[in-house]
Amino acid sequence: MRILLTGAAGFIGSSLAERLLLRGDEVCGLDNFDETLYAAPLKERNLAPLLGHRGFRFVRGDFLDEKRVDELVSARPEVVVHLGALAGVRPSLLQPKRYQRVNIEGTVNLLEACRAHGIGRFVFASSSSVYGAHSSVPFREEDPAMRPASPYAATKRAGELLCSNYSDLFPLTTVALRFFTVYGPRQRPEMAIHKFTRLIAEGQSVPLFGDGSTARDYTFIDDILDGVLASIDRTANPVERFRVYNLGGSRTTTLRHLVELIEAALGKRATIDWQPQQPGDVPITFAEVGRAAAELGYSPKVPIEQGIARFVEWYRKSCIGGTF
Ligand SMILES: NC(=O)c1ccc[n+]([C@@H]2O[C@H](COP(=O)([O-])OP(=O)(O)OC[C@H]3O[C@@H](n4cnc5c(N)ncnc54)[C@H](O)[C@@H]3O)[C@@H](O)[C@H]2O)c1
Repeated sequence: MRILLTGAAGFIGSSLAERLLLRGDEVCGLDNFDETLYAAPLKERNLAPLLGHRGFRFVRGDFLDEKRVDELVSARPEVVVHLGALAGVRPSLLQPKRYQRVNIEGTVNLLEACRAHGIGRFVFASSSSVYGAHSSVPFREEDPAMRPASPYAATKRAGELLCSNYSDLFPLTTVALRFFTVYGPRQRPEMAIHKFTRLIAEGQSVPLFGDGSTARDYTFIDDILDGVLASIDRTANPVERFRVYNLGGSRTTTLRHLVELIEAALGKRATIDWQPQQPGDVPITFAEVGRAAAELGYSPKVPIEQGIARFVEWYRKSCIGGTF
């Protein structure tokens, strides 16, 4: 299968490209090496194992560039997988206009190009953050998700609504995948698990916001990739023209316990710097994954204890003492 993949140099995008190539798909990856969240050399490192692969083509470019997007989509990939975005809740409070431009306008550019070139299948990376602080747990796809708690979350909800809209109006099957805090090798360095690991390993204090009781549903990258691959395939034979799926670990871990797991994996105690709760943060995320299980065969396999150990092992090999 031929796939156009945006965000291909990112954490999830580069990991997905590897899995797609492994199963014999051809991947055209687009990424502009945006440095809002982390430095371009890390993205070059993510891409390095892919570049020699004959099924892979990389295009350094911006999906806000309509001409560039049109040119790539006119090559008629069978599926467009749109993972590229400005991610992250807290930075979105500082740059809400940029987030809306990249995440909403960028998504429209890709959907428009699909419409113009008669592409029939589109997979969109959404987020558990669309549920906000007022949805009851576990989060179910039927929840109205009307009060996302941050500009980032609002852009993801807008992206979902655009997908739904294009599926209603045009012959385009769309899927929105609500990822629940993804972690594992290559995780973005500003995300909690990676950041805490770095700070503890370097003997620096770890800022924790709130009282440590906030809880997240953490999902190991391999489980997310299983879900994304199954959704790509599902778009050939969709349950509905627009469908939302939760992809989570379906288990919650408190912030305090997360730090204990990292301490155990590193064999080193953390010094905690308690800070007030941050605006935009939500108390809990927790995925109900029954729909993904029934329609995608999704079944998360890596428990947090094992996943943290695997992350720390990668961190030791790739980040300590190296350039990064
Ligand atoms: N990592 C998570 O826990 C998580 C959770 C929920 C949703 N998501 C979503 O999953 C997707 C991938 O997340 P990630 O953690 O891999 O983030 P990431 O930042 O590592 O990857 C996103 C990539 O998109 C690229 N990009 C940004 N703007 C672009 C533009 N205008 N043109 C081309 N490329 C552009 C960036 O350079 C980056 O490499 C994002 O849509 C994110 O919102 C991630």
